[in-house]
Amino acid sequence: MKRLLPLLGFLGLLALAQSPGAKLYSAHCQSCHQANGQGIPGVFPPLTHLDKVVQAKGGREYLIRVVLYGLQGPLTVEGKTYNGVMPPFRQLKDQEVADVLNYVLTTFAKSKAKPITAAEVKAARAKALSPQDVLKSRPPVK
Ligand code: HEC
Repeated sequence: MKRLLPLLGFLGLLALAQSPGAKLYSAHCQSCHQANGQGIPGVFPPLTHLDKVVQAKGGREYLIRVVLYGLQGPLTVEGKTYNGVMPPFRQLKDQEVADVLNYVLTTFAKSKAKPITAAEVKAARAKALSPQDVLKSRPPVK
């Protein structure tokens, strides 16, 4: 048992080291977009291309809106078409929406964009949109 204790301590630290964004991703996003953010071709889009989206004009607001209000309608991602429904996650706090998006952007999209802030999420809440309207606000990134 004595020998096991350092190991248990180490595992505990590993659990603590998991960022809030990583935890939110596994709880709310992973079932569809998969653990590695690759999605399922034709069904759930990948999240690995999001650096292009976040860098495009209006891209930051768009990503925040997708999480807050969901997304519905046809879109093309990396040459594959999708026409599904993503549910809204309004129940997440402003900081949580920022954390999960920053996790996705840095981990899967290797983005160096300025991190999304809770204040930006708060601003996006001021105007509620339908999932179809969110799609209309998507920057023209294939
Ligand atoms: C129930 C399945 C499901 C869950 C859970 C889900 N998504 Fe989605 N997501 C989708 C689908 C389906 C689409 C594409 C919708 C369409 O075809 O219009 C999508 C699209 C997106 C897009 C848009 C990509 C682009 O290029 O425009 C982003 C960003 C995204 N999801 C992030 C997330 C994040 C972050 C979470 C967790 C908070 C999440 N999704 C949870 C199914 C899901």
